[in-house]
Amino acid sequence: MSNYSFEAALRKGQVLQNSEKPIGIFDSGVGGLTVFKAISELLPNENLLYLGDTARVPYGTRSRETIRKYTEMAAARLTDYNIKMLVIACNTATSASLPGLESRFPDLLVAGVIEPGAAAACAATSRGHIGVIATEATIRGQAYQKAIGRILPKATVVAKACTLLVPLAEEGWIDGPIAENVAQKYLSEIFTGADDPDTLLLGCTHFPLFRNILQKLTGPAVRIVDSALATASLVREMLAQACLLNQSAAPGSRQFFTTDNRERFMATGGHFLGELMPDAGVRLINLQ
Ligand code: DGL
Repeated sequence: MSNYSFEAALRKGQVLQNSEKPIGIFDSGVGGLTVFKAISELLPNENLLYLGDTARVPYGTRSRETIRKYTEMAAARLTDYNIKMLVIACNTATSASLPGLESRFPDLLVAGVIEPGAAAACAATSRGHIGVIATEATIRGQAYQKAIGRILPKATVVAKACTLLVPLAEEGWIDGPIAENVAQKYLSEIFTGADDPDTLLLGCTHFPLFRNILQKLTGPAVRIVDSALATASLVREMLAQACLLNQSAAPGSRQFFTTDNRERFMATGGHFLGELMPDAGVRLINLQ
């Protein structure tokens, strides 16, 4: 992972081509690193900035107004870095804030994770019966239910908030009997044994870490879908359409911002990223 040179370029007053500007990726904490990773793998030459609001995570149990306020503050901070695109890599924040962000930053490409995740689930389903698991706020806001309904109006969607899976993932308890029991308790309300979903959509950044357990509990016939890969494809498509894909052959740089407890962000973030975070590339910032 290369260290980030974009800030140095800014300090030196260098003028960057539009396509060389970074992509700003936001999440309430470390979960969005699953999306960051997918973007980084699909677009290795892009310069990436990641902001995790660890001071205020979790967003998933907060009110819509608070989630909007926090997300807008974070997005505004990322725009200070002259980004060419903003990716809301958090389901909860996308669900509450995406339309507001699109109108607040009309000159910026803005993508969220809900539409690509819903499209991936609609492509995967065989009978149009989709289970969605996410945070309380995402389920309450019905963003996935509405997005699926727009793509596949005849789909049946059953949704369940799985609040406890978020702290379990952050603790690294992603397998074993505790995680399995908690997941089983939640899934039993969706998979009741009668006309069960054929597809399970993981509508929270943390849930891909439980993929093995979830697949074991649902059985191999159920297709499990998450939005990270689909979001990365959407990002590439939007940049290509706007002629903003970075043409440089050099590997892109990566910089991480966190709003609290840099050490914990690095340790927990490593699980989500699947590799150690570079110490020099992680900076503590204040959004107030
Ligand atoms: N990143 C959030 C999401 O995808 C989960 C963590 C939180 O509740 O803030 O919904």
